[in-house]
Amino acid sequence: MEQRSLGRNGPATAAIGLGCMGMSGAYGPADRQEGIATIHMALDAGITLLDTGDFYGMGHNELLIAEALKGRPRDSYLLSVKFGAQRDPAGGWLGFDGRPAAVKTALAYSLQRLGVDHIDIYRPARLDPAVPIEETIGAIADMVKAGYVRRIGLSEVGPETIRRAAAVHPICDLQIEYSLLSRGPEDAILPATRDLGIAITAYGVLSRGLISNDYAAGQETVPGDFRSHSPRFQAGNIEANLALVAALRAIADAKGVSVAQVAIAWAAAQGRDIIPLIGAKRRDRLAEAIGALDVALDGDDLAAIEQAVPKGAAAGDRYPAAQMAMLDSEA
Ligand SMILES: NC(=O)c1ccc[n+]([C@@H]2O[C@H](COP(=O)([O-])OP(=O)(O)OC[C@H]3O[C@@H](n4cnc5c(N)ncnc54)[C@H](OP(=O)(O)O)[C@@H]3O)[C@@H](O)[C@H]2O)c1
Repeated sequence: MEQRSLGRNGPATAAIGLGCMGMSGAYGPADRQEGIATIHMALDAGITLLDTGDFYGMGHNELLIAEALKGRPRDSYLLSVKFGAQRDPAGGWLGFDGRPAAVKTALAYSLQRLGVDHIDIYRPARLDPAVPIEETIGAIADMVKAGYVRRIGLSEVGPETIRRAAAVHPICDLQIEYSLLSRGPEDAILPATRDLGIAITAYGVLSRGLISNDYAAGQETVPGDFRSHSPRFQAGNIEANLALVAALRAIADAKGVSVAQVAIAWAAAQGRDIIPLIGAKRRDRLAEAIGALDVALDGDDLAAIEQAVPKGAAAGDRYPAAQMAMLDSEA
């Protein structure tokens, strides 16, 4: 599988990573054994980067990953873990805790759940507005020195925070939503990360399943499914967004590939510093995503894609208002 580098100084990683969030219910019910089989399939195919968060199913996701990794050599995969999101037992979002003591406590629990002695990339899920980023990154840097963490990443923060964080400790990647329907990072964030040699682990490349052959207007979602409250999936927006997907599908059909594959190939084509995180919880989805790496997009294809889905064309914000307000990357 094509290799890319997670930041100027590595480590090397396959051109796509596997995001495991959906295996813990973020997009409706998930089958545990199928999730584990999907992780095995990814590793066997050469995907090395596995992304999780301690708040994905409140530990469920880390425990599932630990089970999947049993017997695998520790140097055969990279674990990317987000921390800091505060949630109640019903899954409600309460805020973020980036205080140094919280960083170290969360890390201690994650190491236990994952059954490992170090985490490859540890990152705050969001900026805690009450804690200077220097303090949060400084606490992770302490854990790097102590050997519990190898590298530090960021998530959904803007250029100023990125620069302040990188002044404390090298940052290997910024995780951020980046897709044909979410191109905000192009304006000020990508110039900053490229200047600093920081990679982008792009999530939501399929816009949470919107860019696929499966999502239909009015589709029923269970409570807890992100799409049940995402503005882009609500009546009034979903119709316009599906029309964009239909225009993109015409390009995919002409190339004999799926619309999801075009979206993944488009993200991967935006630069070798972009590593799409694929949110597959099933093997068939993962196979489709891996197939995207064989989809070559030439200049004509990219121009046609731009015309089908112009920058800024998506209807509705990428998160509900309360969660948009928590995004330093949108400030
Ligand atoms: N840093 C952050 O703030 C943040 C936020 C969100 C996610 N993430 C990370 O990024 C990862 C990826 O993001 P995401 O899951 O939101 O984005 P995504 O890949 O855009 O969306 C995943 C959704 O797309 C659907 N889908 C359709 N075709 C697919 C295919 N061929 N391959 C994979 N999925 C397909 C899946 O359907 P099914 O449900 O039917 O499988 C799933 O509902 C997450 O797993 C998580 O690790 C990070």
